[in-house]
Amino acid sequence: MLQNLQAEESYWDAKHEALSRDGLEALQVDRLRETVRRARRAPFYRERLQEISLEDIRSPQDVAHLPFTTKQDLRDAYPYGFLCQPKDRFVRLHVSSGTTGQATAVFYTRKDLDTWADLMARCLYMTGARPGDTFQNLTGYGLFTGGLGFHYGAERLGMLTIPSGAGNSKRQIQLMKDFDTTVIHIIPSYALRLMDVMQELGLDPKRDLSLRIAYLGAEPYSEEVRSRVEAFYGVKVFNSYGLSEMNGPGVAFECRFQNGLHIWEDAYLVEIVDPDTLEPVPEGRLGELVLTTLTREGMPLIRYRTKDLTRILPGDCPCGRPHRRLDRIQGRSDDMFILKGVNIFPIQVEQVLMAIPEVGNNYRIVLDRQNNVDTMTVEVEVTDKIFVEDMRHLQRIRNRITKELKSELLVTPAVSLVEPHSLPKNDGKAVRLIDRRNL
Ligand code: COA
Ligand code: AMP
Ligand code: ZN
Repeated sequence: MLQNLQAEESYWDAKHEALSRDGLEALQVDRLRETVRRARRAPFYRERLQEISLEDIRSPQDVAHLPFTTKQDLRDAYPYGFLCQPKDRFVRLHVSSGTTGQATAVFYTRKDLDTWADLMARCLYMTGARPGDTFQNLTGYGLFTGGLGFHYGAERLGMLTIPSGAGNSKRQIQLMKDFDTTVIHIIPSYALRLMDVMQELGLDPKRDLSLRIAYLGAEPYSEEVRSRVEAFYGVKVFNSYGLSEMNGPGVAFECRFQNGLHIWEDAYLVEIVDPDTLEPVPEGRLGELVLTTLTREGMPLIRYRTKDLTRILPGDCPCGRPHRRLDRIQGRSDDMFILKGVNIFPIQVEQVLMAIPEVGNNYRIVLDRQNNVDTMTVEVEVTDKIFVEDMRHLQRIRNRITKELKSELLVTPAVSLVEPHSLPKNDGKAVRLIDRRNL
């Protein structure tokens, strides 16, 4: 069922990348049936999928007969409610940032890790990365999936891999010089910040470094940021999309034509729905991305509502892959925002603030990008009982709020204490979030 391979295109996994559209859809049906069969073993899905007959799944569109899964479901079933295999079959878990109250965890069997590494290698190979390249991964390791996700994919492909992690800019630059790094994975906001550090050091990456490819993802960014990063570092930038619930990175990725992100439809079944009615939107229209895993054995997820807003781009890609392309993520259908690659819900800020007795009734989160540094200022009204003249007391309150917010959010905010009733209201309603970053 392989398509005619494009003469100049080479594939990591031709069997799955260069299928015909019909072949791809037939594979999706087989895998969707298998996914439902497996998912039934998980406590969460057992009853929900009881009525579904596998024979009734005859086309990828039949996924619409299955129930949705939400982040709240993952929270409610925490920690093990989605596992469809015994616990001793799992070898890794990741926990997503931006959890309000109850965290959500994703578990991987050895085979799941293997499948994920292969998907990632496919993404990297598609952009032109090859054995012999040196790959430096400047995103957070640990519980963030961008660290180990890219790491295993790069090793699978055969690149020399430097797990440098997030931050520590001078060391990052030294590593790039010492080991002739050619390929990097970096969060867009950090790519901008690192630009400034290089300029301060009088370094011109086009002259002094060997970079040629950069993967930017984990948070929204504009075409303008892509152009600036490409021009300054002398690289080609490829957009990378993923989310922890769907393994992490490797869900959708740009090819060398940089014209939207191929979503790997042999691994994920795609729907775009109206976030209010949950009905499918016409092809090409903006809506919420809903994904069903097709290759995950340990923790399949069915019709997972990502809350990310995007569209399917029309037309075929010149690279010849039949996997459809997503537009850049245009926003969210909930109020989550991402700062320095870390997911944050305003309610997390509220929960921290409201547990502190000196805090009044109103607060405001202001996000900004100043001199290429992303900032978050939390303006907090104090209660009537606080004397604003008592500077030492105010300092103590500010330090406590900063420390507790940092511990909850994983990024360090600036905290500004203001007098009671001084924050502006809009039609009598508090405005909780102002984003001036112009993403
Ligand atoms: N990613 C990585 N490092 C970043 C960054 C980003 N988006 N934004 C800033 N940094 C760097 C800073 O430049 C600084 O290093 P330097 O002083 O040597 O130049 C260092 O990280 C700490 O910066 P600071 O502004 O004090 O950070 P913070 O306390 O507000 O946040 C981070 C700490 C940056 C480590 C945290 O936000 C993080 O881990 N981000 C990465 C998240 C991630 O990997 N997500 C991927 C999900 S798949
Ligand atoms: P996490 O679960 O921590 O990996 O975060 C996943 C979320 O990050 C997604 O649901 C998106 O909102 C966001 N995200 C990931 N990649 C991109 C990207 N390339 N562009 C915009 N947003 C992204
Ligand atoms: Zn393509």
